[in-house]
Amino acid sequence: MNHILVINSSLSGDTSVSRILVDNAVQRLTAVNPNAVVTYRDVGDAPIPHLTSSTVAGIRAVAETQAELAAQALSDELIAELKAADVVVIGAPMYNFSIPTSLRAWFDHVLRPRGTFAYKDGSVQGLLQGIRAIVIEARGGLYSEGPTKAMDFQEPYLKTLLGFIGITDVTFIHAEKIGHGPEAREIAITTAKSRIAQTITPGV
Ligand SMILES: Cc1cc2nc3c(=O)[nH]c(=O)nc-3n(C[C@H](O)[C@H](O)[C@H](O)COP(=O)(O)O)c2cc1C
Repeated sequence: MNHILVINSSLSGDTSVSRILVDNAVQRLTAVNPNAVVTYRDVGDAPIPHLTSSTVAGIRAVAETQAELAAQALSDELIAELKAADVVVIGAPMYNFSIPTSLRAWFDHVLRPRGTFAYKDGSVQGLLQGIRAIVIEARGGLYSEGPTKAMDFQEPYLKTLLGFIGITDVTFIHAEKIGHGPEAREIAITTAKSRIAQTITPGV
């Protein structure tokens, strides 16, 4: 494992729970693999433009205009970063039961026909291989169990998006009930950190 790609998407700066836990995961990964190179892509602090009618052809069709070529170039860059990675660590806050739009914009540039997925014999093939994903999910409420579980459009969505391009080795780390007061927040962070420690062990 030589290359780690880190994607943060929280809009909450230093108080972000997902950022704290992403840092923790990266510390663990680099402790077990001291030679690993870490690349950071922060779509929260430096958002990727959303696709528009002027740019979408750069990703989904043939780029012709300057705007389409620029979108294609950004897509090329993001896909290259991902392809270079052995492990991708994604910080994904739950926003409105799903993922931040900034992270969605990243996926819009990364899910690319013939670049990261292709159709063969009527079925889809993810073109990325051998990439492990560790996804940190921070949530204000509780969604891993109970009546609100059905409102979790974050984890199934991320699993589908990553699986669609061939990333099927995905570990989800939850930090839940962040909105239930400082004590609940601390418990969530401590619990998530111990799960990270169990997940990232020597030999990973
Ligand atoms: C725009 C926005 C939408 C949110 N929507 C939800 C939500 O649907 N469900 C939830 O449990 N928490 C929601 N929250 C709370 C966040 O999930 C929670 O604060 C989490 O800690 C955010 O991750 P972060 O600390 O890494 O920024 C929302 C927060 C924001 C800013």
